[in-house]
Amino acid sequence: MKRIALKDYEIVFANELDFLSQFIKDKSPSAVFVLVDANTEKYCLPVIENHIKPFNYKKISIAAGEENKHLGTCEIIWKNLLDNHADRKALMINLGGGVIGDMGGFAASCYKRGIDFINIPTTVLSQVDASIGGKLAVDFKYGKNLIGLFRNPGLVFISTEFYQSLSEREYKNGFAEIFKHALIRSKEQWEKLSSLSSLYAENIDKIIFDSVMVKKEVVEIDPFEKGLRKILNFGHTIGHAVEAVSIEESKAPLFHGEAVVVGMICEAFLSTKQSTLTQRELTEIIEILGKHFTKYDISLFDREKVWNYMLMDKKNEASIVQYAGLNAIGEANYNQVLDKEAFQEALDFYQNL
Ligand code: GLY
Repeated sequence: MKRIALKDYEIVFANELDFLSQFIKDKSPSAVFVLVDANTEKYCLPVIENHIKPFNYKKISIAAGEENKHLGTCEIIWKNLLDNHADRKALMINLGGGVIGDMGGFAASCYKRGIDFINIPTTVLSQVDASIGGKLAVDFKYGKNLIGLFRNPGLVFISTEFYQSLSEREYKNGFAEIFKHALIRSKEQWEKLSSLSSLYAENIDKIIFDSVMVKKEVVEIDPFEKGLRKILNFGHTIGHAVEAVSIEESKAPLFHGEAVVVGMICEAFLSTKQSTLTQRELTEIIEILGKHFTKYDISLFDREKVWNYMLMDKKNEASIVQYAGLNAIGEANYNQVLDKEAFQEALDFYQNL
C-alpha cells in the first residue's frame, strides 16, 4: 500500500479497504456520517459499505451536480447532522467527486466550528486535484467557489476501484489535470504520458500516484496560494471562463477537464509569446493533447462573455487578468498579465487549429 504523508494528514492509495476501517476505529468518532449523491450512493457506497457498517454510519444523500453546490444544500447537511445529534467528535466521510468533497468539507468545517472529515474521491479528477490541498467551497450567486475556506481532511483515501462507475468521458475528464500536473512540474511525467496510446493504461495506479505527488509538493510549499500554488491554475484562466460560458450557452456544456484542455492550449500559445516556451514544445503539447481530447468549436461561444468571466476571476489582482503559463514543458510561471488583445489572439489560434 502506498501512502503520501503531508504535514497534518495522509493520502493513502489502496484498493484494500481495511485501512479505512482501521483509521476510523483509531479515531473513535462519536458518530460517522457518509455524504453521498445519487450516483455515489448507487455505485460507490457498496464498495466501502462493509468497511463502515461496524460504525453504524448514517447516510446523508444530496442531489448530484455542480448546480447543487450551494449554501442551501449545506443547510440540508447541517440539519441532518443536527437531527442526528452529531457532536464535535462526529466524523464525516465525503464519498464522491469534487462537488461532494468541496461542499462536504466546507459543511463539516462550519458545523459546530468544525468536525473532522475524510475525503474518498471517486473520480479521477477529484483524486488528483480537488481532494488534496484543503480548498473547500460552495458556489454563490455571483460565481463558482466564492464562499469557502482552507482546511485539510483527516485522510484522503484513493482507490481505483471506483473507476468502474465512471463513463469514458468522466474518466478522461480527470486526465486534463494529470497532463496539467506533468506540464507544470515534471517533464519526465509528460514523456511517460506522451507515450500512452490509450488513457486506460495498465499502470493507472502509478499515473495517479505521480500526479498526486505533484499537487502534494506544490500545496505543501504554498498552502494558501500566495505564490507557487498559482501554477496549478495553468489552463484554468481561459479554461474556467470557457467552461462557464459553455454551461450558460450550450445544451451540451464542456466538462471541466475538457475546458481546461482548451485553456492549456491557449495559455501554452500565450507562453510562446510572453515566456520561453518554444514553438516545438507548443506543437508537441497540441499533438499529445489532441490524441486524447477532441477539438471543440469555441466559435459558438460569445467571446465578450468569456472575457467578462475572466475579469471576475478570483486570481486577478487590481482587475488585471492573470494566468499561469509555461517556461518550458515541466516548468511553469504565474502572475502573467493577459490583456484582451492577447486573449483574442489565443482564442483565434485555438479556433484555427
Ligand atoms: N485546483 C487548484 C488548487 O487546488 O490550487
